[in-house]
Amino acid sequence: MDPLVRPEAAKLCGFAEQLNPWFRRPSDNNANDVYVGAVRLPGLTQPANAYVKIFPVSDRFQFVYNEVIAYHLALQCALPSPCTFPCVCPTSFLRPATRAFMAPDPSSRFVLGVASLDGTPKNIKQTISTSDAAWADLMNWPNVARLAVFDELMANDDRHLNNLIRRGPHDYLVIDNERILFGEHWFNRDLKPLQRRRCDANVLADTISETTDQDIRQRMMRIAQHFVMTTLLTVPEIADNLERLCGAPPGTTARLIEMLNDRRTFLPTLMQWHAQKGDMFRASTHR
Ligand SMILES: Nc1ncnc2c1ncn2[C@@H]1O[C@H](COP(=O)(O)OP(=O)(O)OP(=O)(O)O)[C@@H](O)[C@H]1O
Ligand SMILES: [Mg+2]
Repeated sequence: MDPLVRPEAAKLCGFAEQLNPWFRRPSDNNANDVYVGAVRLPGLTQPANAYVKIFPVSDRFQFVYNEVIAYHLALQCALPSPCTFPCVCPTSFLRPATRAFMAPDPSSRFVLGVASLDGTPKNIKQTISTSDAAWADLMNWPNVARLAVFDELMANDDRHLNNLIRRGPHDYLVIDNERILFGEHWFNRDLKPLQRRRCDANVLADTISETTDQDIRQRMMRIAQHFVMTTLLTVPEIADNLERLCGAPPGTTARLIEMLNDRRTFLPTLMQWHAQKGDMFRASTHR
């Protein structure tokens, strides 16, 4: 198995040993803080290079949970994703500019974040200069249709090019699943109303539906059918620990998995919606 994708290492919680801020473009208006550095994981003798994300307090526990559970479910759906796990970070590592915001209690010495092992390719020679070329490269990734279906299943409304790590031509890792279930705070909510709700902002499904490439559109619909028949999600081993760490009511993961397995059966209809939007788009642009 790819050494970056190792669910056995994500069983517990990591601990950040050293972190540096990862600076965003000034135009990025994002409330999360991202760091990169060395993280100690239980069971591994060496610290590992990882990206660590700290969420604002109001979203923190829901989004850490979302990221970690989605990583385990991505693996169950055969999508490559770097090992993602909850990670304790000393507040002293936080940027002075955001420390008071991220850790409002000055006596708290640690905050909970989420870490994912660094998937940056070490020897990539080609970079892609235009957004059109980047999308064309992505559309030729063998897993792109599967990810479009997975994003619909998980109701992830935040897929974009920067939420994938490009490892080489047509080769990607899936990251950043904080906004599953439409980015809602759902721990204490009835999940039934989400079962059939369309993920309108499924960018991959829309892009695939809008292409003139029949093959990839058909592949997406076949994968949706395939999920219905064969991909039964199960509660990952980390569920109890994760629920405790994130303050989720006991049984949250079982409830989520039950809802997702029901949602799975609606995937052909949900994907059909994107296909129809794509048909309309193509009809209007070819007029
Ligand atoms: N495991 C990883 N390997 C390599 N790079 C990573 C990894 N995790 C994050 N990054 C880099 O850090 C960036 C920000 O991470 P991430 O997308 O998780 O944060 P975010 O705040 O949710 O971003 P946004 O909301 O803008 O999508 C990514 O676009 C990517 O460049
Ligand atoms: Mg992101």
